[in-house]
Amino acid sequence: RPLVLTSIADVRKWRLSCTLANKTVGLVPTMGALHQGHLSLIKQSLKNNGATIISIFVNPSQFAPNEDLDAYPRTVEDDISLVSQLSDTHAGLETKVDVVFLPNVKEMYPSGIPLDVSQQSGAFVSVLGLSEMLEGKTRPNFFRGVATVVSKFFIIVTPTRAYFGQKDYQQSLVIRRMVKDLLFDIEIVVCDIYRDDSGLALSSRNKYLDGPTVEMSTNIYRMLKHGKDLYEQQNITSVAELQKQMMAVIQPFVDDGAMKVDYISINDKDTLEELTEIDTNKGGCITCAIYVTNSSDDNVTRLIDNILL
Ligand code: PAJ
Repeated sequence: RPLVLTSIADVRKWRLSCTLANKTVGLVPTMGALHQGHLSLIKQSLKNNGATIISIFVNPSQFAPNEDLDAYPRTVEDDISLVSQLSDTHAGLETKVDVVFLPNVKEMYPSGIPLDVSQQSGAFVSVLGLSEMLEGKTRPNFFRGVATVVSKFFIIVTPTRAYFGQKDYQQSLVIRRMVKDLLFDIEIVVCDIYRDDSGLALSSRNKYLDGPTVEMSTNIYRMLKHGKDLYEQQNITSVAELQKQMMAVIQPFVDDGAMKVDYISINDKDTLEELTEIDTNKGGCITCAIYVTNSSDDNVTRLIDNILL
């Protein structure tokens, strides 16, 4: 079993021991309810580094008051036993997850939790220019909360490398830009989206879905894949045309009220500038956020996914 540490001081001590042992350190920040998507990031860290630390922290500052902070699945014991089973052997050395860091809110936010972006007191990290569109439009607090907590983890752990998923594409761009602009000496590794056999991207929030809704939600990836195929095989580069044809894939579910589109957008891969015409030399990224409603209990879940062109 990995060491389970809850205090920042203990993590700093452990980090010093890695430095003294000449080990590189990989960090995988998570909010828990671990699934194969998270595990693929952890496995990559085990491959690349002498030591690996994962954090599990449902970060309150990235949730809006109307969001699912309280309902967010918390399965720490299962999470720890899942990561205990992982190992990698390279250069004759076996690596395992060394530390699971479970910080508490009080220590992470010594001056309290910033509830909204307009809060004018305290220190935060905002990555302007990449945080306002797409996810940031519906969730104006979100990226400030993410960038702030991830920079805290970077300051505590000072990892050699940190691992993020392409699943949260905009988040990965925000983190890369933060690392560049704030001069963090950390290599950011972005891992592929892990999907189940149906194409559904794994997410902790999939736990909210009932059986029929899981099945319906597989159409989100079908829609993205359809857009990519139209672009790559039929050379359709008009964003309006692609959006129209993608929309047709999920229209039946929208019509019967089981799906609602927040956005289906095609953006520049680096700047997230909204495109109207795709430049085939540059490609782009199709991102979407879709609300799905359970057939059994009317519970609404917001799912995000993306595909690179
Ligand atoms: P969480 O949603 O737990 O995700 C942790 C990491 O796992 C993120 O980098 C996310 O992109 C990645 N991930 C999630 N599902 C994935 C999938 N299906 N395939 C590949 N990677 C996947 O993202 C967060 O937590 C938080 O915002 C955090 C960065 C921890 C800051 O609080």
